[in-house]
Amino acid sequence: MNSLKRVIIFGATSAIATHTARQLVAQGAALHCVGRNPEKLDALIDDLKVRAGDSQYIGGTVADLTDRMQHDCIIRIAEKNLGGIDGVLIAYGSLPDQLACQADARLTIQEIETNSLSVINLLTLLANRFEFQEHGVIAVISSVAGDRGRKSNYVYGAAKGMVSIFLQGLRNRLVKFNVDVVTIKPGFVDTPMTAGFDKSGILWAKPGQVAAGIIKSMKKGSGEVYLPWFWWGIIKVLKCIPDFIFKRMSL
Ligand SMILES: NC(=O)c1ccc[n+]([C@@H]2O[C@H](COP(=O)([O-])OP(=O)(O)OC[C@H]3O[C@@H](n4cnc5c(N)ncnc54)[C@H](OP(=O)(O)O)[C@@H]3O)[C@@H](O)[C@H]2O)c1
Repeated sequence: MNSLKRVIIFGATSAIATHTARQLVAQGAALHCVGRNPEKLDALIDDLKVRAGDSQYIGGTVADLTDRMQHDCIIRIAEKNLGGIDGVLIAYGSLPDQLACQADARLTIQEIETNSLSVINLLTLLANRFEFQEHGVIAVISSVAGDRGRKSNYVYGAAKGMVSIFLQGLRNRLVKFNVDVVTIKPGFVDTPMTAGFDKSGILWAKPGQVAAGIIKSMKKGSGEVYLPWFWWGIIKVLKCIPDFIFKRMSL
């Protein structure tokens, strides 16, 4: 079982991360929260401090995480304030407008930067630290969208898929250093990211439910985790559909 006593959350103001942070604090964790929006980050830190005990460190750094030059400095600050790092959760992301991306190559690249390249930069820096310290867990929220390209969201899917493959390799590299790498693959989650979606139907999960699954997987050091679990079956079926049929489906 991995200890989650000292954790950094990148993208801490996301709905899923906020629920994860609250649950971690309730379990006694010290947290360093990284978020882009200063007002939202302040509000989150104030909320977490109210929930934390006197000895629990709760702090944070404001950063646009596509600014890769800041990554090393943020990790150093967090490590110093926490007194070491047991776990990391990378939770930020954006859901691109697929049609707008198709019309604008710069927007496509920007979305790949947010959802993938910046994450890979962070992972490369974190991996070397974790390899050196020989313990801990690194988790990233990827997506079921990364498991098969679909015409309705392949820019997002490609970015998440790149992260998932990167994590597969990283997991294999770090296992002998006693470091777990966890890929979280949620399905549909009711958060601001999906504000414009019709949320009727049984496939929608609440962010608190996904947060509990994230913490459980990080503690266990699971490899790839579908949240809720039934997405494992849905994706398995989706992957079996032959390409000549799949390309004609309106997914
Ligand atoms: N909701 C779903 O159905 C679903 C499904 C699968 C995977 N996911 C993934 O789950 C994660 C959390 O998303 P969510 O659903 O909780 O959505 P959310 O509440 O909309 O959170 C997205 C967060 O990402 C942050 N962010 C975006 N670009 C950033 C940047 N350049 N630098 C720093 N922070 C940045 C946003 O910050 P601001 O507040 O500043 O905008 C926001 O806090 C994401 O990786 C998402 O792709 C979500």
